[in-house]
Amino acid sequence: MPVLNGDDPVAVDHCARILADGGLVAFATETVYGLGARADDALAVGAIFAAKGRPSDHPLIVHVADAAAADDFAAVVPDAARRLMTAFWPGPVTLVVQRRATAAAAAAAGLPTVGLRCPDHRVAQALLRRARRLGVPGVAAPSANRFGRVSPTRADHVVAEFGPELPVLDGGECRDGIESTIIDCTRTEPRMLRPGTTERAAIEAVLGRSLLDRDTAAPRVPGSLESHYAPWAAVYLADPRELERSVAAAVATQGPGAVGVYSRSSLPGFGAARFRAMPDNPRAVAHELFAVLRQFDAENVGQIWVEMPPDRAEWDGVRDRLQRAAANR
Ligand code: TXA
Ligand code: MG
Repeated sequence: MPVLNGDDPVAVDHCARILADGGLVAFATETVYGLGARADDALAVGAIFAAKGRPSDHPLIVHVADAAAADDFAAVVPDAARRLMTAFWPGPVTLVVQRRATAAAAAAAGLPTVGLRCPDHRVAQALLRRARRLGVPGVAAPSANRFGRVSPTRADHVVAEFGPELPVLDGGECRDGIESTIIDCTRTEPRMLRPGTTERAAIEAVLGRSLLDRDTAAPRVPGSLESHYAPWAAVYLADPRELERSVAAAVATQGPGAVGVYSRSSLPGFGAARFRAMPDNPRAVAHELFAVLRQFDAENVGQIWVEMPPDRAEWDGVRDRLQRAAANR
């Protein structure tokens, strides 16, 4: 019985007990499904790294039920982080702050900082609150996929990644579909480490200043340069004007049915490619993106050709995931 109804309090209690005992459970959030372990238990956290095949120097986000619980992990909550918590928590914004020396060292991969997130999903909230009553101060949880692969946005995606033994608290399709925005609040000037669905302008309005982008001094974020979020098929991004010609050439060499296309318009040159219409709205694309990549894999296409999204801020999260999926091609 690996997939459990996240709206069933008995299932939530069962999973909270597994966490309290140092075990792993997957659970729904509003962004993607997480693979959780109690954040204050180095052995439990180590099991996450082992299950994912994730290098141990890649820090995990610690999930908390509310802003008050952040104080268990943060050495200081600077003014910028406090404002962002007030404005966006619960919600898909992760804040990197200085870590309490004794808290969540394994989850933070030994860094002096910690990423904190308070999810806006009834199942994640129920689990975090139930676990807290059992003595769990926070839950370290990366996306519930093998390292480098596409994040899961449905319970069956998690089962496809980890098999039937791992308990999964099902909360339906994730609302956002891409991972949280990460803001580094440890330096004087806050920086965007990873774009998500929360608009940059909304964050800047709360901060009363513009956000800097990540720089080389910023802590390492998996996938920032290397390939990440990658399906088995090769992903290619093309400008709308070049897409038709590229797809026609790909179909000619790969054969019909072996090429997937995810684009806002259907063009004659797509011929025998498997076409999937990309919505015009970036939120709708984020919501379905990872499921679309998984679907193309399930159809055994060898190449996925994707129309490059518009060069506008509201597409930052989607563009970032597509560029990483297409890295090394
Ligand atoms: O939406 C999300 O954030 C999802 C759900 C499950 O909450 N979680 C997620 O976790 O995306 P993961 O492990 O796939 O990505 C965590 C990201 C990594 O890029 C990691 O480098 C960054 O957070 N991160 C965590 N702690 C950090 C820290 N102390 N400094 C800088 N980056 C950090
Ligand atoms: Mg991930």
